[in-house]
Amino acid sequence: MSGRVRTAVLISGRGSNLAALIAAAREPEYPAEIVLVVSNVEAAAGLVIARGAGVSNAVIPHGNYSSREAFDDEIDRALRAAKVALVCEAGFMRIHSHPFVRKWEGRLINIHPSLLPSFRGIRVHQQVLDSGVRVSGCTVHFVVPELDSGPIIAQAAVPVHPGDSKATLSARVPEAEHVLYPKALRMVAEGRVKLEGGKAVFV
Ligand code: GRF
Repeated sequence: MSGRVRTAVLISGRGSNLAALIAAAREPEYPAEIVLVVSNVEAAAGLVIARGAGVSNAVIPHGNYSSREAFDDEIDRALRAAKVALVCEAGFMRIHSHPFVRKWEGRLINIHPSLLPSFRGIRVHQQVLDSGVRVSGCTVHFVVPELDSGPIIAQAAVPVHPGDSKATLSARVPEAEHVLYPKALRMVAEGRVKLEGGKAVFV
């Protein structure tokens, strides 16, 4: 028994944050270990990363389930079968049902490519460019039923340069994400931040 916190990562795509979490967890003193990757998309490039790193992985295609709840139940079964204690969403493009969120509340975290509470939802870099803000960034937060609204665990700022495009921003922001997410997971795994009474409490 390593005593590290058994952690799953939910993905739908590229998996660059997954790669950053796996790399961080390779360090023996890192407090979490990545024991399972779940993708709802069979062709997700992140699955290749998981397999290459020897991490157990499961494909659970959302289209195979008649409801959001049934899909989430299957994810929940996979998480419990792997004895997972913490779940990181990393580019997971499905909205969870409320029962699933309630069940994993305080143990389910997500990374979002903006400084929340600004620019929730999708097409985030375009929203940032349209707004004219000079600073963007990324946020790791506890997941609550309302989309991109959970208590904030950690954030990093990223400058928006004149002449930036969706392509340049969507290359710069992930660089910050790959540093932030492992730090945030460390904080949660070490119990240095908890979700209590709907707030992130730092201890
Ligand atoms: C990241 O920008 C993350 O903030 C957002 O989805 C993207 C996932 O990228 N939720 P990747 O699959 O980790 O490369």
